[in-house]
Amino acid sequence: MKPSYLTTKIFLDSGNPLETKQALTDLGFLDGQTTNPSLVAKNPRIVELKNAGSLSEDSIWSQYKLVAEEIRNIIPHGSISVEVFSDLETPHEEMINRGKDLAGWFPGIFVKLPTTHEGLVAARALSSEGINVNMTLCFSQEQAAAVHSATVGAAGQVYVSPFIGRLDDIGFHGIDLIKNILLMYRNWNSHVQVLGASIRSLDHLFGCINAGCDIITIPMSIVELWKAQGLNNDPAQHEFAISDNKPIPYRDISEGDWVLYDIHHELTNKGIEKFVADWKGLFAK
Ligand code: G3P
Repeated sequence: MKPSYLTTKIFLDSGNPLETKQALTDLGFLDGQTTNPSLVAKNPRIVELKNAGSLSEDSIWSQYKLVAEEIRNIIPHGSISVEVFSDLETPHEEMINRGKDLAGWFPGIFVKLPTTHEGLVAARALSSEGINVNMTLCFSQEQAAAVHSATVGAAGQVYVSPFIGRLDDIGFHGIDLIKNILLMYRNWNSHVQVLGASIRSLDHLFGCINAGCDIITIPMSIVELWKAQGLNNDPAQHEFAISDNKPIPYRDISEGDWVLYDIHHELTNKGIEKFVADWKGLFAK
């Protein structure tokens, strides 16, 4: 049963349906699941097929689809995100075609796209056709502004996924980005839901809950930590570690044409490169 204080939706961040089952048991509820190429590349069955040399670039997609379907069987009403394969050169036309394929896996699925220029063009097209999109690898308020503006009037639902832990890794206070995007979106009465990702600690989890984040996706390690410390403990009473990471100041950005925002972020490019490397590693000879 979901604790009564919790209005935030909790997703599992994993490419392994066995973990979906375990998280559902541990938490007593689960609102959805996010996957990505790096997580799917760690799925035990896929690793086994890889080690047997029986994975090809085509068969990996049927394996990914099986994984998504298994997750859906465990949480039939949950929101499930699957990621379009894209590298730094993939044009939006390809992302749109691949996104449509993924959207056909089952109704209500969320198609993950990178928060880049090409990813946003694809998101605008797919969401206007009623396909749900999840804009991943978001590291700045400008990128979140562009997600909002590019998808105004969307017929599908729209998530933006800011990556907290990876901002912490480079010396910033990642939770600040969540707070800044939530504030900007409230001012704009935005249709976009904020999904806190790259969660590495209970401080991240409770920081997002206390900030009023719409959704948080957590790996199994955080499910276990949360369960161990008591799910019913009020996050407002949580004692946060003192961090000497640099604060991320709020930027007073005006709502406008999405192509005018500076959406480049080095961590977005690095994130795409890592997904590509993990994915290609599966069928490398
Ligand atoms: O949800 C995004 C997540 O899978 C990335 O996490 O820990 O690799 O930054 P991490």
